[in-house]
Amino acid sequence: MQNKTLITATFVATAAMVLSACAAPTAAPAAKPAEPAKPAAATSAPAAPAASTGKKLTVLCTVTEEWCAVQTKAFEAKTGIKTTFVRLSSGEAATKLRATKSNPEYSVWWGGPADGFVAAKQDGVLEAYKSPAAAKISDKQKDAEGFWTGVYVGALGICSNQEELKKIGMPVPTSWDDLTSDKLKGKFSIAHPATSGTSYTTVWTQMTLNNFDEAKTLAYFKKLHPNVFQYTKSGVAPAQTVGKGEAAVGIVFSHDCVAAIDSGFKDLVVSFPKEGTGYEIGAMGLVKGGPEPVEAKLWIDWALTPEAQELGGQAKAYQLPTNPDAKVHPRAVKLSDIKLVEYDFDKAGKAKKDLVAKFEEQIATQPK
Ligand code: G6P
Repeated sequence: MQNKTLITATFVATAAMVLSACAAPTAAPAAKPAEPAKPAAATSAPAAPAASTGKKLTVLCTVTEEWCAVQTKAFEAKTGIKTTFVRLSSGEAATKLRATKSNPEYSVWWGGPADGFVAAKQDGVLEAYKSPAAAKISDKQKDAEGFWTGVYVGALGICSNQEELKKIGMPVPTSWDDLTSDKLKGKFSIAHPATSGTSYTTVWTQMTLNNFDEAKTLAYFKKLHPNVFQYTKSGVAPAQTVGKGEAAVGIVFSHDCVAAIDSGFKDLVVSFPKEGTGYEIGAMGLVKGGPEPVEAKLWIDWALTPEAQELGGQAKAYQLPTNPDAKVHPRAVKLSDIKLVEYDFDKAGKAKKDLVAKFEEQIATQPK
């Protein structure tokens, strides 16, 4: 199907009506025909978190600050555990975990694409923990050994400022090649893959589209480089940069562009590359040797419940949930309308360190 999905402020409203009127989109990316559901292993519902342990938990949090605050506040209200968070982008968080491996400061890492967790598992900074609640999560959305478990899903989108596009006489981009247009010189916004999981998802999407030809993939980003206004640290930042008109087009997860529209940037529009786009399974994992393992496991059990996976809307976080019993937010982007690439999280995670190093050598070093 010609991929012409455009999401504007009105379209999103319409989509909301459509979405609210139709069955909730699948939690898993619809690109792969869902396997016949296996009867879920008989497990009791996750034990209600223990009464207040009177202890504390610091969450290493990679989603938006707003969502980190909503989620940790809800957990504290539920359990009485004094819960705080530190927000770091995916690459920064992994670097921090490696740097503090002998004396971990955090006990649970929550949020950010699963390939970051695959890399962290290789670094030996995660500990396996198979929550009883993980039985509800599709095998495609969790590590078989329990080192990470998916909590949300979202697709990469092109986020454009329609007013800025008019000024440069360019239509809304609908392909990866459109982003390398000379018309976008200095007017394209993207994060750096060393710090941002959103950006690394973009790099691995190109690898997938180029049949894992590294030279062709890096050549694409070399061609894109002159258009980059500045590489941001965080993957969400381009939505603000484009929303403010400092750039005309950016790459973010589509739900972050919809969130920016809802925050008032009404000139923004989301489109999707017709060649196919990448997607993330936002994940979480237990930090090896963390100071609060009991509270961290309670967090993981709770974060997999429908109640926890329905909180994102309070922070304009419209990702799709991984728990099939969780209600999908009406503003969520239906993946069934988008052409997705076959994104191999394991392969992406195992290649991350080397591929990011080559990006830094050949294209641009990471922002300080
Ligand atoms: C935002 C998105 C999340 C994504 C995260 C990655 O918070 O809403 O879906 O997982 O960014 O952050 P990063 O800064 O590493 O790209």
